[in-house]
Amino acid sequence: MTTADHKMRFGGILENPLVSKIQRAILDGGRVRGLKNGLKPLEYDKVLDIGCGLGECSAVNKGKYIGIDNSFPRIAYAAKHYSNHTFFVGDAISIPVLDKTFDLALLIDTSHHLTDDQFKTVLLGLQRISRRYIVVSDPVIYPGQNFLSQFFYKLDRGACFRTEQQSKAVFDAVPGLRYRSTFSYRTFPGLYIHQAFVLELIS
Ligand SMILES: C[S@@+](CC[C@H](N)C(=O)[O-])C[C@H]1O[C@@H](n2cnc3c(N)ncnc32)[C@H](O)[C@@H]1O
Repeated sequence: MTTADHKMRFGGILENPLVSKIQRAILDGGRVRGLKNGLKPLEYDKVLDIGCGLGECSAVNKGKYIGIDNSFPRIAYAAKHYSNHTFFVGDAISIPVLDKTFDLALLIDTSHHLTDDQFKTVLLGLQRISRRYIVVSDPVIYPGQNFLSQFFYKLDRGACFRTEQQSKAVFDAVPGLRYRSTFSYRTFPGLYIHQAFVLELIS
């Protein structure tokens, strides 16, 4: 568990996979579809998804997909419900995977659980294991964000939501990455705007 992550908020109830799934479906609907559409133009086969949670983002796979998360109940849920993919418990800070073994490394809705220093460390790890791309996507703090939206961001277990510029500042501090493109998508019922950054590895 990272220092930025409030896992035991609300007595740990959000750790329950079913509670988490229902909460996401009601407050953040269509996010996997938004991500999948944005990733379509990228050419990849092997995907490593760090902070994979319940495994829902395995839907973006075009071949081989492996998910890692530091929550045992989530990994158990993912392994049961997406049994055609591989999942294991591990920490984003120290990724237990060989160098350059994946085409695409994903960090989806997870960077808000990481301080800037932790985020940089994780990006260096993703850079080590990915051959082509890193995609980081997270809900952003945005201009004109209404009270209800701010309220739900505050309820989150992660405490490090960023603006688009704040995320870019972290990418700029990591050598060996080239910013390629960005895409964003608003999810139902309109409380969350997700910003996805496509980063390329400079060899
Ligand atoms: C909001 S969920 C997103 C899950 C998934 N990526 C998705 O979009 O459906 C954030 C996930 O990050 C995981 N997480 C937070 N800090 C982590 C760390 N240091 N290492 C691995 N996973 C972490 C949490 O357990 C949680 O499952």
